[in-house]
Amino acid sequence: PRHFALIPAAGIGARMGAEFPKQYMPLAGKPMLMHVLDTFAATAAIAHTFVVISADDSYIGELMTAAPQLQGRVTLLYCGGASRHESVLNGLHAMRDQVGDDDWVLVHDAARPGLTSGLIEHLIEALRDDAVGGLLALPVVDTLKRCDQNQRVAETVPRTALWAAQTPQMFRYGLLQTGLTRAESVTDEASAIEMLGLQPRLVEGSPRNFKVTLPHDVALAEIFLKDYS
Ligand code: CTP
Ligand code: MG
Repeated sequence: PRHFALIPAAGIGARMGAEFPKQYMPLAGKPMLMHVLDTFAATAAIAHTFVVISADDSYIGELMTAAPQLQGRVTLLYCGGASRHESVLNGLHAMRDQVGDDDWVLVHDAARPGLTSGLIEHLIEALRDDAVGGLLALPVVDTLKRCDQNQRVAETVPRTALWAAQTPQMFRYGLLQTGLTRAESVTDEASAIEMLGLQPRLVEGSPRNFKVTLPHDVALAEIFLKDYS
C-alpha cells in the first residue's frame, strides 16, 4: 500500500485573531502551511499530498506559484467545510479516484508546522502491517483536575495512561472514510475509528509538533522551526 498525506487547511484561525487565516502566517521566514507542505514533499515515503483549502481562499495560489519544489507533489482541493471533520471528509471524497481503499492516509493539521520527515517516518514504521492504524501523541505531563460547575476541583484524574493526541493520524483510506462518515462530530480521526470499536495505536510524537492555536504559540513555533531549518 502507498502512503498519502491529507492536510486540512481550511480553518479561519479565530483564536489566533490575525487578519488572515493562521496557516498563512509567516514563521521563520515561510508561511506556516508551506513548512508542512515542504516537509511532506521532501519525505520519500509519501506518494502524494492533498491539501483541503477553503473555496474562497485567496492566499494559496500565489504561494504555490512561488514553490516549484511542490510541483507534481501536491494537489489543492478547494472543498473546505464548516468544521475540520467536514473538511477532512470532503478531502477524502475529492481524492477518491487517486487512492485505493487499502492505501494509508496521514491526516495532518496545517497548524502543526513543527512536524519533521523523521516523525512521519517514525509513525509509518511503527504502523507497518498494523491492522487498525494510529496517531502521534504525547504522554500528558501536567497534573489533571476535573472540575464541577463552580470551577472547583471535583477530582484529580491520574495522568498515568493519558496521552495528548497530535497528528498525523494514519488510517487506511476505506476505514477512515467509513469511520468519518458514520461519526456525528469528532475533533480527530482516531475518535471516529474508536467509534467503530477499534483501538488506534499511540506512537510517541514530539513537543515540537504542537498545534499553533493562540498568539503566544507563534514565538515557540519559530524557536522549533529555526532550530532545524
Ligand atoms: N480546519 C479545516 N476546516 C475547518 C476548520 C479547521 O480544514 N472548517 C483545519 C485548520 O485549518 C487547521 C486544522 O484543521 O489546520 C486544525 O484546526 P484548528 O487548529 O482549530 O484551526 P482553526 O479552526 O483555523 O482555528 P480556530 O479553531 O481558532 O478558528
Ligand atoms: Mg478550529
